[in-house]
Amino acid sequence: MHAQSLHDGFAAEAGWLDLSHPPAPDIIADIKAALDTWPVLVFRRQHLTDAQLRDFAARFGKLEIGRTAARPGRRRLAIPQIGDISNLDEDDRVRPLTDRRRLDSLGNRLWHTDASYMPIPVVLGFLHAVTLPPPSPFGNGETEFADMRAAYDALPPAMRDAIEPLVVEHDVFWSRAQIGFNDFPANERAFYPSSPQRLVRRNKVTGRNNLYLSAHASHIIGWPVADGRLLLADLTAHATQARFVYRHAWRVGDLVIWDNRCTMHRGRPHDEAAPRDLRRATTLDTGSTLEHAA
Ligand code: OGA
Ligand code: MN
Repeated sequence: MHAQSLHDGFAAEAGWLDLSHPPAPDIIADIKAALDTWPVLVFRRQHLTDAQLRDFAARFGKLEIGRTAARPGRRRLAIPQIGDISNLDEDDRVRPLTDRRRLDSLGNRLWHTDASYMPIPVVLGFLHAVTLPPPSPFGNGETEFADMRAAYDALPPAMRDAIEPLVVEHDVFWSRAQIGFNDFPANERAFYPSSPQRLVRRNKVTGRNNLYLSAHASHIIGWPVADGRLLLADLTAHATQARFVYRHAWRVGDLVIWDNRCTMHRGRPHDEAAPRDLRRATTLDTGSTLEHAA
């Protein structure tokens, strides 16, 4: 598969493929292999329906039904495996600034990896741009990705050894608390308890280690909460330095695939009066991060 570098050893643009009909198994295998080299892979000029996005992503694994799609009640998008990454309500109107669903989704502006608060977290994210906002003084709604393998490699060897055995508690209530959001539906705590995850993960194919960090990462198990939180803040600052970050400036029709196991990402601010509509499919992992030793 042809891939052109967008960020050294981390993000690449793939040559054009028609993804509206699920490609043959050898092409899927090529894309999987490319993602081990380039954990952020950009496909341009795709114009996929939600069903086409679902069917393509489903070739890579079982699909997640996300936290907001799992809630009862009316939803803008019909397919539960397609996450609504937009600022629009059920009737396609831009949500007001104080809208609860909007405020919850602003947690995506913090550096994170998706669903690390689940006992078995996710693997690949597939984000497809349908409608984009105009430029604004605060940002254009870009998505930034940080390379957790390069960040790990850049740590001093003694630090790498010291963090290797650590296990971190991840909690969606903690990521939202950081932006002052605590207005969760009443039963959400029971559905989404916190989960332990290894701080250092290894890609079984490449053998490369990486940090596994997220805004959901609350504290280090067995350490005083304050000490753990401070180490996580230091590691996050280290891992999100500009040299580890690829910033994706969206065009309508882009499909970005990323590996949540070895990257973090965050959305950037944008014109809140204009629609921004992206659709996401996400594949589930098959085991806990605790099962495989780093
Ligand atoms: C996501 C996410 C950021 C953005 O879809 O998981 O964090 O830029 N998106 O919308
Ligand atoms: Mn996300």
